[in-house]
Parts: sequence; C-alpha cells; structure tokens
Amino acid sequence: MKTLVTGGAGFIGSAVIDKLQREGHEIFVIDNLSFGKRKFITVNDDHFFLADILDRKEMDRIFKLIQPEIVIHLAAVHFIPYCNEHPYESSNININGTINILESCRNYNVKKVFFASTAAVYPIYDDAVSEQHDVAPLDIYGLSKLTGEHLCNEFHLMTGTPIIICRFFNAFGPNETNAHLIPEIQQQVNDGLRTIKLGNLTPKRDFIHTSDMANAVHVLLNKINSGTDTFNLGRGIEYSVTDIVDSFSREIGEEIAIEVEPSRVRKVERMHLLADVSKLKALGWSPLIGIDEGIRTLVNKK
Ligand SMILES: NC(=O)c1ccc[n+]([C@@H]2O[C@H](COP(=O)([O-])OP(=O)(O)OC[C@H]3O[C@@H](n4cnc5c(N)ncnc54)[C@H](O)[C@@H]3O)[C@@H](O)[C@H]2O)c1
Repeated sequence: MKTLVTGGAGFIGSAVIDKLQREGHEIFVIDNLSFGKRKFITVNDDHFFLADILDRKEMDRIFKLIQPEIVIHLAAVHFIPYCNEHPYESSNININGTINILESCRNYNVKKVFFASTAAVYPIYDDAVSEQHDVAPLDIYGLSKLTGEHLCNEFHLMTGTPIIICRFFNAFGPNETNAHLIPEIQQQVNDGLRTIKLGNLTPKRDFIHTSDMANAVHVLLNKINSGTDTFNLGRGIEYSVTDIVDSFSREIGEEIAIEVEPSRVRKVERMHLLADVSKLKALGWSPLIGIDEGIRTLVNKK
C-alpha cells in the first residue's frame, strides 16, 4: 500500500508513520519542516519530499511520481497562539494547502483520504462531545480546520473517494513540536525545577497518547472503505493541569509546586474539552496508554 503522509515529520505524523510502516505500508512524506524534524522518521530520502503544500505544481509533480493510494493529510499550522498571531499564514496553509492536496488526490485518483481535524471545531461545552454535537469554533485555527472538513465533504461529493475526517483531541507523547502544556511541564521538570510556572490550572483536557492515535488511524484506514465519516479521537477521560503535574510528581517521586504566572493565563478559556469516543471504539479500537504510563516516557527526555 503506497501511503503519502503530509506533515509526516511532525509530532503525530511521526507516530502514525512508525505504526503504518510496521503494518506494511510503503510510506512517502511531504513536509516543509517548518515545525517537524527529519530525524523523527525513518523514511529514505527518495520517499521524503521537502515541499510546501501551498505549491500547487509541486504537489501534482510529487503525486504523479508516487501515485499514492492513500493520503493522510496532517500538514497544518496548529499551535493556537501561533495561529492567532499569524491568522493569514495559518488559515492559508490550513485551507488553501488542503485544497491543493485534495486537488492532487483528484488528479491522481487517490483511493482513500484521511483528514486531521480537531476538537477545536466544537464550541465550549461542559460534557463529552460526540460527533453529532454542534460545531462552532472559537478561533481562527478551529475555523480553518472546520473549513477543511467542508472541503473534504465537497471533495467526496465530487469524486466519490472515501474520506475519513478525524477530530483529534489533545495529543501527548514523544517528538512534540509545539509549546503545549505537557512539553512545557516536561521541560521545566527535566530542567530540575520543582516549582514550575504555568497559566490556568483548572481547565480539563482529554489527553491521548500519540501511539494510541496511530493505532486509531490504522483501524480507521482498515475499516472505512466508502462514504465520508467523522470520528472523534480522544481518550474519553479528562485531566486538569494539576492532574498532569501530579502525574509528573509521581513519576519523579518528588513534590512539584505550581506558581501561576499571570502572563501565561489565557483570557478566554474552555473549562472542559472531552471526547465521546464511542463511535471509534465501536470499530474495535481502544486506547492503551494511561496518563502516568505516557508521562513516564517523557521524564528526563528533552
Ligand atoms: N497535536 C495536537 O494535539 C492536535 C490536536 C488536534 C489536531 N491536530 C492536527 O493534527 C495534525 C498534526 O499535528 P501535530 O501535532 O503533529 O503538529 P506538527 O506541527 O508537529 O505537524 C504538522 C507538520 O506539518 C508540517 N507543515 C506545516 N506547514 C506545512 C506546509 N505549508 N507544507 C508542508 N508541510 C507543512 C510541519 O513541518 C509539521 O511537520 C495537524 O493537522 C493538526 O492540526 C493536532
């Protein structure tokens, strides 16, 4: 199976590639390395294309050369503070880049497309959200990804190509590329600090390990063979910032105190973001890595 992963040198892409390689996929990667790192993946140079998904002609050239059967479209700008500071750049990549990839999928007859969307398409809500819940993004990033979902649905209507839209919740694991909460705590703890500086402490998030995400991508690719369908991908458990710090504390066997730094406190904050993952679980997937087990692999790793 020839599988092309855009954004494959990134945080989630590197875990997905590792899993799919073990499942026998021949992996090709397009990545401009703006956030990702070449060393995260073991893909030969003739299967790695240093290219920008905004480059329409180059996308067609690469697709023509590879003739991929499956495309997993992960390339995006997704760190929300960065997107808020660079609204044009991030929406351009997330929307026009997606149009380019879908156009090449159409031109070169790709058999199945997987699109990485996000929990950020949902509005503020205090309970678990299912895929049927209303969508109402709070920021430019969520809006750009929701547009990507619409583009995928249009693409399916035009071509009949099966599309899997997967709304990722909060990923954690090795190879993190952006200054999210867990790498922020990881860095301070691994730097030897035992009083760490953070922003809001009470919001809860559904943290899912990237290896569980990679397993889910594999299951979805195997099970979904027609139509267009949307799945949440989270663990179905939410943790507060203090829960995460407590987990680091258990792993190092030392107390960790938290100092709230006002400059890090977000003015608009969701208090909950929790996935209802029953639809994905019905396909036979379940998450395997708990928070303590996942955090254990991050302690003393930079
Ligand atoms: N990390 C999360 O918690 C999370 C949550 C929800 C959704 N997502 C989505 O999952 C996908 C992967 O996210 P990630 O956490 O691995 O982020 P990441 O930044 O590590 O990966 C994105 C990859 O895309 C590449 N890229 C960015 N712009 C590009 C361009 N113009 N052309 C070619 N390559 C480009 C980057 O170099 C990077 O390797 C993204 O679509 C993101 O929106 C991630």
